[in-house]
Amino acid sequence: MELICPVCGSGLDRVEREYRCENRHSFDIARQGYVNLLTVQQKRSLHPGDTREQVLSRRAFLDAGYYAPIAKTLCDTAKDLGAAGPILDVGCGEGYYSARLAGALDAELTGLDISKEAVRCAAGKYKNALWICGTAAHLPVADRSAGIVTSLFALTMPEEFRRVLKPGGYYFQVLAAEDHLLGLKSIIYPELLHKEKNTVPELPGFRLVRSVPIRFDFTVEGEQVRNLLSMTPHVYRISKEGAQRLARTQTITDTASCVLNVYRADA
Ligand SMILES: C[S@@+](CC[C@H](N)C(=O)[O-])C[C@H]1O[C@@H](n2cnc3c(N)ncnc32)[C@H](O)[C@@H]1O
Ligand SMILES: [Zn+2]
Repeated sequence: MELICPVCGSGLDRVEREYRCENRHSFDIARQGYVNLLTVQQKRSLHPGDTREQVLSRRAFLDAGYYAPIAKTLCDTAKDLGAAGPILDVGCGEGYYSARLAGALDAELTGLDISKEAVRCAAGKYKNALWICGTAAHLPVADRSAGIVTSLFALTMPEEFRRVLKPGGYYFQVLAAEDHLLGLKSIIYPELLHKEKNTVPELPGFRLVRSVPIRFDFTVEGEQVRNLLSMTPHVYRISKEGAQRLARTQTITDTASCVLNVYRADA
C-alpha cells in the first residue's frame, strides 16, 4: 500500500523505524509495531475511537469464535468474486476480520483505526500487516492504491474509499441489521424502539454487486456477556438500571444479524 503524508499529502517512504516525506515530516513506528499518522488537527478528542477496555473485550469475544460465520462469509465472498489486494481495512479494530481475509486471499494488508489502542492491539497479534492510527475522513493512502477496502461495523466514507481504490476494486461493507443483538437490547433497554435502517445504501462512485444477509444464533456466558456489551455502541447508551439488569445476567442467547454489501468501484 502506498502511504501519503497526513500533513502535506506527498508520498511516504519507510526509512528504518520511521516513515518520511520529501518535506521532512516524519512518523515513528512505535515499539508495538504500528505507525501514528493521525495529526493533532484531525483529533477531535485526546483519545479518539474505541477505548482499551472495548478493544480487549472485542478481542476476547472475537477470538472465542462467536462471529466466525461473519469472517467466513467475508472470505468466501471475496474469493468467489476473485477480489485481490492490497487490502485496506478502515476502522479495523483489533484486526480479527481483516487478518483472516488477508490470509484467505494471500494479500497484503494495511489496517487503519482512529483508536491507538485498537491498532496497538492489532499490531501485537498480527505481525504480517501494517497497522496505522489514522482517520477514515482523510486516509493517508495514495489514490488508486488499494484492491480492496473493508469497513466492518465501522464508518463509510464513499469519496475517500473511491479515491484510494483502483478502478474495478471492491469495497466490502458489513452493517448491523435492525434485529442485530435483540437479546442483549431487550435486557439493557426498557423498551425497544423501532428505527428504520437502510442496510443496503447506494454509494456514489460505486455499483452494488452483492448483498448477503448473515444471520445466526449464539450463546454467551459469564464474562463474555460483559464483553458483548462492551464491544457494541450500547456500552455508551446503557442506563444504570440496564447495567444492573445485565450484571445479574449469566447467559444470553442472541441473534447476530448483519448484511455484507459488496460494491465495485466504477472504472
Ligand atoms: C464497532 S468497531 C468495529 C471494529 C472492527 N472493524 C470489528 O468489526 O471488529 C468501530 C471502529 O471504528 C473506529 N473508528 C471510529 N471513528 C473512526 C474514524 N473516524 N476513522 C477510523 N476509525 C474510526 C473505532 O475506534 C472502532 O475501532
Ligand atoms: Zn509531508
